[in-house]
Amino acid sequence: MSTGETNLTNFRFPDGFLWGAATSAYQIEGSPLADGAGPSIWQRFSHTPGMMTNGDTGDVACDHYNRYKEDVALLRELGVGAYRFSISWSRILPEGTGRVNQGGLDFYRRLTDELLAAGIKPMATLYHWDLPEALDDRGGWLNRDVADWFAEYASVTFDALGDRIAFWATLNEPWVVVDGGYLHGALAPGHRNLYEAPIATHNLMRAHGRAMRAYRASSAKSPIGIVVNLEPKYPASQSEEDLAANARADAYMNRQYLDPIFRGAYPEEFPDMWGDAWPDFPASDFDEITEKLDFVGINYYLRAVTKADPKVMIERATRVKQPHAIFTETGWEVFPPAMTEVLVWFRDRYGDTPVYVTENGAAFYDPPAALGDVVDDPLRVHYFREHIAAVGRAIERGVDVRGYFAWSLLDNLEWSHGFTKRFGIIHVDFATQKRTMKKSALFYRDVIRGSTIPT
Ligand code: BGC
Repeated sequence: MSTGETNLTNFRFPDGFLWGAATSAYQIEGSPLADGAGPSIWQRFSHTPGMMTNGDTGDVACDHYNRYKEDVALLRELGVGAYRFSISWSRILPEGTGRVNQGGLDFYRRLTDELLAAGIKPMATLYHWDLPEALDDRGGWLNRDVADWFAEYASVTFDALGDRIAFWATLNEPWVVVDGGYLHGALAPGHRNLYEAPIATHNLMRAHGRAMRAYRASSAKSPIGIVVNLEPKYPASQSEEDLAANARADAYMNRQYLDPIFRGAYPEEFPDMWGDAWPDFPASDFDEITEKLDFVGINYYLRAVTKADPKVMIERATRVKQPHAIFTETGWEVFPPAMTEVLVWFRDRYGDTPVYVTENGAAFYDPPAALGDVVDDPLRVHYFREHIAAVGRAIERGVDVRGYFAWSLLDNLEWSHGFTKRFGIIHVDFATQKRTMKKSALFYRDVIRGSTIPT
């Protein structure tokens, strides 16, 4: 299959289309315990021997906590209209609930002041995977009370920063929180438990719904949504087994979080897929979960070709590696047409809620920045060119896509891979903290300038 071809001559993105770049707190900030902050589960996980490649931690990361002004200046140079970042819960509430830490709120005030002065709209995500450690000790996402804890944190943050945040997102990628954190254990808090996963999923949904209600009751009025990662599934063959496996994989990854929000129920395949591990949830929980969103953020990185495999738990499906594709450093197939498909699929299944592509990008090997003033990253330029064109095609097909955020502004801590996978459009030398533009950043700057794909 083709990896996409630009061929969108004369296409211009609609007026007001928002171009941005994205990051998250633990991946870039560093100084995780500064100014009265409490530890998060990523603090504990990254300091547990054996969990992180090379023993890397977020203790310094990109030192954005101290260098945010320099990073906002880079955003300005790129010409972005918006910057998506996340707020660290344990900076605001060091114990997760109760005592508010002024030092934490002040950091996000300084950052947002700087963004607003540069004419850049702040998009804040409340939860990008860094649960306060104190709440994990009380059961974390397995405790039903987490919905109240999250709503408390959300309310404090809405009240303190509501006058300056242009877009809010409740959760980033609940699928990854559960699949990585509670089922396969590669991400904090590192559990591997089939029975825990649906409970964590449902509590994330409840927490999202309760925060939505808290938002509607607050004085903040900017648009609010949720961010999900979607990965279109293509059956490896038209056999009955592969088609059924493909539907299960799709239910697990793509419908698990959107169906409850938009349709008030988990995918119909779930009781069969989870067997004994699937609990009965109170029907009344869905009253909050279905609270209307102003937008949905879609993160797209790759697709999957699926075949039946009875040995795999839950999905009973496995991926088939494509023989002639380009793969990123994380082993992900580069397949831009699925970016268009996923946006069209979202609209067809869930209706016309506005969409932002809140993450899209790729880790590739980059030559050392010392070799020149600009880091030459042709594969990443190709990736962005083809995926941005694919977003354009979805718009041509009538999908209400309002913006696009490149992942990521900076090379950063790629979770348990540590600093070994570089997703940045800006290179970071982690020894000196020097930032160097990559050619992909210059390409993206040209996209933003013309709101079109440069030839
Ligand atoms: C996450 C980011 C992550 C990126 C690349 C997304 O799943 O939101 O935090 O760095 O993908 O793996």
